[in-house]
Amino acid sequence: MKTANFIKENNARQFWQPMTHPADAQANPPKIITGASGVRIRDIDGHETIDAVGGLWNVNLGYSNDAVKQAIAGQLDSLPYYSTFRGTTNDAAIELAYDLCDFFAPEGIQRAFYTSGGSDSVETALRLARQYHKLRGQPQRTKFLSLKKGYHGTHFGGASVNGNNKFRTDYEPLLPGCFHIPAPYTYRNPFNETDPARLAQLCAQALEDEIAFQGAETIAAFIMEPILGAGGVIPPHESFMPMVREICDRNGILLIADEVITAFGRTGAWSGSRLWGVQPDMMCTAKAITNGYFPFGAVLIGARMTEVFEGDTSGKGAISHGYTYSGHPVGAAAAVVCLKETLKADVASNAAARGAELYSGLQALAAKHEMIGDVRGGHGLMAALEVVTDRASKAPANAATMNTVYETAYRAGVMLRISGPNIILSPPLVLSAQDVADILSALDAGFAALG
Ligand SMILES: Cc1ncc(COP(=O)(O)O)c(C=O)c1O
Repeated sequence: MKTANFIKENNARQFWQPMTHPADAQANPPKIITGASGVRIRDIDGHETIDAVGGLWNVNLGYSNDAVKQAIAGQLDSLPYYSTFRGTTNDAAIELAYDLCDFFAPEGIQRAFYTSGGSDSVETALRLARQYHKLRGQPQRTKFLSLKKGYHGTHFGGASVNGNNKFRTDYEPLLPGCFHIPAPYTYRNPFNETDPARLAQLCAQALEDEIAFQGAETIAAFIMEPILGAGGVIPPHESFMPMVREICDRNGILLIADEVITAFGRTGAWSGSRLWGVQPDMMCTAKAITNGYFPFGAVLIGARMTEVFEGDTSGKGAISHGYTYSGHPVGAAAAVVCLKETLKADVASNAAARGAELYSGLQALAAKHEMIGDVRGGHGLMAALEVVTDRASKAPANAATMNTVYETAYRAGVMLRISGPNIILSPPLVLSAQDVADILSALDAGFAALG
């Protein structure tokens, strides 16, 4: 093991980090996290903070879940790897598929296809959507629709349906045939509509309009996050996703719920689709499926797709897609135990209760600090503050301002996630009421430091 000095000297030297400018990382070296327990992380200098980021929306059970750790260790001993490509499978992957279909029965889920993470899950869902229509004799249904502000990972397919140009422009040209409609984002939208129910209606009308313009018979699927996460935590009105489901049904379009962050309790319900009472055709999952302890994901598949693929007799239903690590036995074993632990701790209920405390605390902070332009949340432990220079112009706060809040909160004992002018909060779902209070007081200190 190298010394702490060696690690610090080489920080950001050889390692190009995701979502980071390499030169900026060299000029402002990132914090080196070396340990964690419970809901807290520790840096190389021994400074401990509550992790209000929850790893990256994935460490729902915190850092000390021994059952998941033991499942990983045990599986490494018995079968550390074997392929699940045609002809072989493994016991852990079989057990997990059974458990996932049982757990997500209310969402109408009947089958699971494994991946190595969220972007892989999105890519898989987009591909299966096209294949589904080909199997049904509608090969011209190739287009995808999605929401502006949505985040669907960074593969070319996912980036093409992403609704934030930050993840798009440097990598264009992207996949042709992807079109975006306005997000149900009350703080900023092209309709200047602040009422969530009316805005949901307008966005649904925009979807109908785009479908009519493109021609329904050319569209494979609509993909959306039940609550938009990385784009700044945008919860739509409760009427929105059911309206989308109805529009998709009426037009023969598949509905893909990107539940990479919302599945497994984050929203205070067991999935975002369940929160809104919708059965999607596919659900993309990853992240908390293993509590972030092992890279793993699953696309969960509903009745419509199951029937078409399994009923195919032409051979065209063969899934010529998958990853070396699809159904990785270590990930699958971790997920089997993680699901049990998730249920045992009833993290959805805790997310709902702590989320309500966090949301009202954030509203109190907004009443105190002028630079907080918008507070979003109210559904479990996902919330955001949008920071502006002043409320009238809504001009986004600059990077220096955001950094002051971030560093002050860090010194006060809380790790935040800054994304542009947004502070995004996605702590572990096992958070206590005291942890919520501590996050709020560190944020308060952060805004007070702006003077
Ligand atoms: C909704 C959503 N979809 C897809 C992804 C991509 O997942 P990954 O980073 O595991 O590839 C993310 C990641 O944050 C996400 O939030």
